[in-house]
Amino acid sequence: MPPERRQQYLDAIGIDRWVPRAVGLSAARAVSALPAPLAAVADAVQDAAAWEALRTQVLQCTKCPLHLTRTQGVFGVGPKRADWLVIGEAPGAEEDRRGEPFVGAAGQLLDAMLRAIGLDRATNVYIANVLKSRPPGNRDPKPEEVAACLPYLERQIELLRPKIMLAVGRIAAQNLLATDAPLGRLRGQLHRFGDTPLVVTYHPAYLLRTPAEKRKAWEDLKFARTVYQQLTQGSVTDGNRA
Ligand code: URA
Repeated sequence: MPPERRQQYLDAIGIDRWVPRAVGLSAARAVSALPAPLAAVADAVQDAAAWEALRTQVLQCTKCPLHLTRTQGVFGVGPKRADWLVIGEAPGAEEDRRGEPFVGAAGQLLDAMLRAIGLDRATNVYIANVLKSRPPGNRDPKPEEVAACLPYLERQIELLRPKIMLAVGRIAAQNLLATDAPLGRLRGQLHRFGDTPLVVTYHPAYLLRTPAEKRKAWEDLKFARTVYQQLTQGSVTDGNRA
């Protein structure tokens, strides 16, 4: 969001009067001093600004040599209040061209898998990758590329505050869990990334090559759905943070 527009919003809800007057107060504390409805609007404005700043950072990133060969950075897609976060490996050729994760053949299968448990990138699941730039020829990410890029994903997680994460494929799972264990050993159990529950399943590109494994992926999705249902038990939810 352009700063002038943000300022207009802040002006409209009176935040500019709080911040300068309260010498030494952080924006967060100034917001917490607002009446609840205004504080909620102010939070939303701050969130939107933080997402926008992060997106700009990613699209302009030159921290690793992949920026020299990519068409564009691929940030992420989905509602910013989604309870679910799906994490893949890195953009492929189609994603690099279109600037959105999982839009090629593997993406179409991923969408179908997610739909089977009631998830849709337009309404209740956010989708991102460990790497925001395409490795040439779709080779595996190098450790230094992951090290450079992971903080962007960590910030996305901080802003999104998902209730559950689904890592698709070995590369995403191993990097998020900091392990060399094979994917077959990581699936079927509940992990954590920080405080957030994390479930692991096969990458849709692998499932396209090995359709016999789709049954196991379906077990993983049902497992993840059960975990989510237990986490949200008793609350009516549309799949997004209230
Ligand atoms: N594979 C991934 O891991 N991510 C994408 O965005 C596309 C293909």
